[in-house]
Amino acid sequence: QLTESTTQDLVDVHVLITSGPTTTPIDAVRYITNHSTGRMGAAMAEAALRRGARVSMVLGIDKGVIRPVASADASSRLSVVEVRTAEEMAAAALKILPEANGVIATAAVMDYRVAEPSAKKLKRANAATTLDLVPSVDVLGSLREAASDQWFLGFAAETDDVVENGQLKLDRKGLDFLFANPVARIGETSATGFQVGTNGGTLLARDAAPRDFAVMSKAALAEAIWDVVAETRLASNQ
Ligand code: CTP
Ligand code: CA
Repeated sequence: QLTESTTQDLVDVHVLITSGPTTTPIDAVRYITNHSTGRMGAAMAEAALRRGARVSMVLGIDKGVIRPVASADASSRLSVVEVRTAEEMAAAALKILPEANGVIATAAVMDYRVAEPSAKKLKRANAATTLDLVPSVDVLGSLREAASDQWFLGFAAETDDVVENGQLKLDRKGLDFLFANPVARIGETSATGFQVGTNGGTLLARDAAPRDFAVMSKAALAEAIWDVVAETRLASNQ
C-alpha cells in the first residue's frame, strides 16, 4: 500500500502523451527505428495518474518498449493506443486531441519513412543498396495546428548545443514548454536520454525562465516537470 501523500493537483486534467519510438518498415521483416524506450513517457504518465489526471497515451511499440503502469484506483483513468509508424501515431493522437487539455510529446518520431516499403521480404541477391526516404508526418506539428486551447510540452533530444537548439525548437514549434534533453553521442555514455533510468536537462518555457534539472530518476524528473506545468500553465487556465 502506498503511503505517499501526493498532491491531487491534476484531477481536472486530461493529458495526451505520445511516447516510445516510431518505426518505418523497409520490407516485410525489416524496419528502421531509434533508441527510444518509452521510459520518460511512461514516467510522465504515471506521475500524472498519481496526481489525479486522466491520461491518453499513444505509444509507438517496438521490442522492449515500456508501458505505463497504473495503480488499481487509477487504471480507469489510463488508456493506451498502440501504433507503429509516425502516420499511425498522428492519426491516433489527432482523434484524442479534442478531449485533451494538454499534450506531452515524449515520442521519438522518425522524421523520414521509407518511400516504398516492400510487402514481400527483399532477398539478399536483389536488394537495393540505397533506400529512398521521404519526410514523415510531424506529429506534434499536426496536433499544434489542430489545437484549440491545449497547452504543449515537447522533448528535444540533442547531442550538441542542447539549450540553444531547444530554445529554437520551442519558438519554431510554438510550444509552451520544451524539455531540452542531452543524449549521448555514438560511442559515449550518458546518464540522460535514451536507454537509461535517469534523466536531466533544461525545461524551457515560453513565459518563464529556463530551469535546470540535475540528473535524477525519470520518475522524480517527471514529478518535477509536472510541478512546473501545474503551477504555470494550469493556473493560467483557471
Ligand atoms: N516530433 C513529432 N513528430 C515528428 C518529429 C518530432 O511529434 N515527426 C515531436 C517530438 O515528440 C518532440 C518534438 O517534436 O516532442 C521535438 O522533436 P525533435 O525530433 O527534437 O524535433 P525536430 O524538429 O524533428 O528536430 P531534429 O531535426 O533535431 O530531429
Ligand atoms: Ca526529429
